Amino acid sequence: MITYNKEARTFKLDTPNTTYMIGLVDEEDFVGHIYYGRKLKENDAQYLLRTEEAPYVPSKNNRERCSFYDCFPFEYPSDGIGDYREGCINVRTASGHAGCMLTYVSHEIMEGKPALEGLPATFGAADECATLKLICEDKYVGMQVELLYTVFYDTDVITRSVRVTNTGAQHFFLTKVYSACIDMDNRNFDMVSMHGSWARERHIQRKTLGYGLQNVSSIRGVSSHQDHPFLALVDKSTTQEQGEVYAMNFVYSGNFRAQAEVSQFDYVRMSMGIHPENFCWKLDCGESFQAPEVVMVYTDKGFDGMTAAFHRLYRKHLIRGEYKDKKRPVLINNWEATYFDFDTEKLLSIAREAAKLGIEMFVLDDGWFGRRNGDNCALGDWQVNETKLKGGLKYLVDEINQLGMKFGIWFEPEMISADSDLYRAHPDWTIAIPGRPASEARQQFVLDLSRQEVVDCIYGQMASVLRSANVEYVKWDMNRHLCDLGSYGLADDRQGELFHRYVLALYQMQDRLTKDFPHLLLENCSSGGARFDPGMLYYSPQIWCSDDTDAIERLAIQEGTALLYPLSTIGAHVSDCPNHIVGRVTPFETRGIVALAGTFGYELDVTKIPQADRERIPAQVAMYHQYNDLVREGDYYRIASYSQNHEYDCWQVVSADQSQSLVTYVQVLSRANVKSRCIRLKGLAEDRYYKVETTSVEFVEEDSIEAKVYSGDTLMKAGLLISELRGDFRARLISLTGV
Ligand code: DGJ
Repeated sequence: MITYNKEARTFKLDTPNTTYMIGLVDEEDFVGHIYYGRKLKENDAQYLLRTEEAPYVPSKNNRERCSFYDCFPFEYPSDGIGDYREGCINVRTASGHAGCMLTYVSHEIMEGKPALEGLPATFGAADECATLKLICEDKYVGMQVELLYTVFYDTDVITRSVRVTNTGAQHFFLTKVYSACIDMDNRNFDMVSMHGSWARERHIQRKTLGYGLQNVSSIRGVSSHQDHPFLALVDKSTTQEQGEVYAMNFVYSGNFRAQAEVSQFDYVRMSMGIHPENFCWKLDCGESFQAPEVVMVYTDKGFDGMTAAFHRLYRKHLIRGEYKDKKRPVLINNWEATYFDFDTEKLLSIAREAAKLGIEMFVLDDGWFGRRNGDNCALGDWQVNETKLKGGLKYLVDEINQLGMKFGIWFEPEMISADSDLYRAHPDWTIAIPGRPASEARQQFVLDLSRQEVVDCIYGQMASVLRSANVEYVKWDMNRHLCDLGSYGLADDRQGELFHRYVLALYQMQDRLTKDFPHLLLENCSSGGARFDPGMLYYSPQIWCSDDTDAIERLAIQEGTALLYPLSTIGAHVSDCPNHIVGRVTPFETRGIVALAGTFGYELDVTKIPQADRERIPAQVAMYHQYNDLVREGDYYRIASYSQNHEYDCWQVVSADQSQSLVTYVQVLSRANVKSRCIRLKGLAEDRYYKVETTSVEFVEEDSIEAKVYSGDTLMKAGLLISELRGDFRARLISLTGV
């Protein structure tokens, strides 16, 4: 609910358990941030703006205007006019000057949530959410800024975005525009973020928040393996189950900056938006710029509370399409099975064996087009290589369909190889600084998607491949990041728009693809998990989580990913051992149990793996079918983290009606002479009894908990005993059924 109190000049935004308050102050109508936290009963917190303390508001003490700006908790602070903390917006006017300041003009409160032009965003109907539009201006620049806030009624989330319009008589350049900010008192916060590398994505980091600016950011053109568009400030005492969390997650797939600045008065400014580096957007008179959306979560229920809010929002109000709530086919992907070395017969031999074992979809990865026999050529030439695929794509797909399997295919649409017909015809279609040789990565360049003819050409090639056969799944990959930022197509004074225009064009392409092929299952990917962000989830219900498929490495990667994103979105496969990335050998069963906490599939040559492993596949596929509804739709709880305890990992899903639950326990290294471990479960009905069964018994020698009945109350308060598993890297699935 959103209310405006005319007398107090305050806005109160309520979600089920939180309140966000904004106040208008002084004759100049500054917009201040009053409060964000646990739900307030009353509308009487505006004293938190501290306008009765020195330096007072400018109308009472104009000689200290700068001091006022430098400590006032601004709702959307700006740069260059006296607030020396870092602001959210700045401009360069036609005369070359920087600096702006926003004041209130009017507001509108509406039911539902407006779409954001050209951008992915969360959505909700009139009875699911309400939106506040605060209209502000800088009359000196000639700029109107709309601050949008949406409160959802079914989850403790507030989303924010910003739209800037040139209302003046001359153009100006927008040089910075963040999407959200919270100015609040520092409460001895820790800062939580996620970092990594290729094959090591989204490892959670927690550190003390100190004075000054601390940020997490990407200037790679994508959200990246290295840094995730997420930031949380949490109380020092916050744990998995309790304590305050302020979190922001960016619904955007390009450069970002998320930061926290602790200033001289122990205030903290937390903000998030497009990274200002290399960003400069020209706004001609009357033109607008729509900044992407930030999702904000506040909870006093620790990381469990935060995760629940994000999962609920993304499942109900972000992910779309036919597969949103549907079980995905169990797939087998040929990348680790063959790399570039395949032909029709080899693919069909894998597919035939896979079909026999119950696998439901065959995915043809990189190497099927142009002269692509390695990663050094042919990107951009999206024509089937009929030397490798004798009989063409349709023949292969028909054969696979005959086996009762669906067929999917890989593309890397945003790239161009120097050794490609496309590059020879259009060398100026790459992102490059004219006159300066661009740097290759994986021997490829990035296409300049800011040019519509480039988008149309690539999309046209893709669409004709998809129309040429019964293709039911696409893996959309992207294997290098952007640099040499220059476009042969953009005017000199619009070169600073390239990063963002690239992302907008990517969204446009995926929008077209999902509209033209509404039954297609789309999986995004970027060298593994570099593009796991809410922006991509708007187009694809699943994203490849990491090229690292080792079951033990995946524990931390999937833990970090599931901190924000539902298990239904996490691309996870069983691969062969020794693992191709880390060389580790883990039991086939453990690989299956870890992949079960994701989309589930295989990434191996099923004709070559050990016979014993092959024989396990039908049971694994059955396990997937038995539990996937629960995994996909249930509430997820983190029970223990191997990254923290260095011994074991444990998570749980519980159905919405609390009648079913599944606990996954992975013991990393086995120990000698130990007793069983007691783990406390979560999310069960206290007054209900559950039959507890170990569904995976391959490595269990003695099992004290099998098929016993316990109350939910006891399982959550006293816990469940898990006996030690014999051997390293062992995993166990425990199912709970309400009786
Ligand atoms: C990177 C992806 O993450 C892999 O799964 C595979 O598709 C390769 N690219 C192909 O080049």
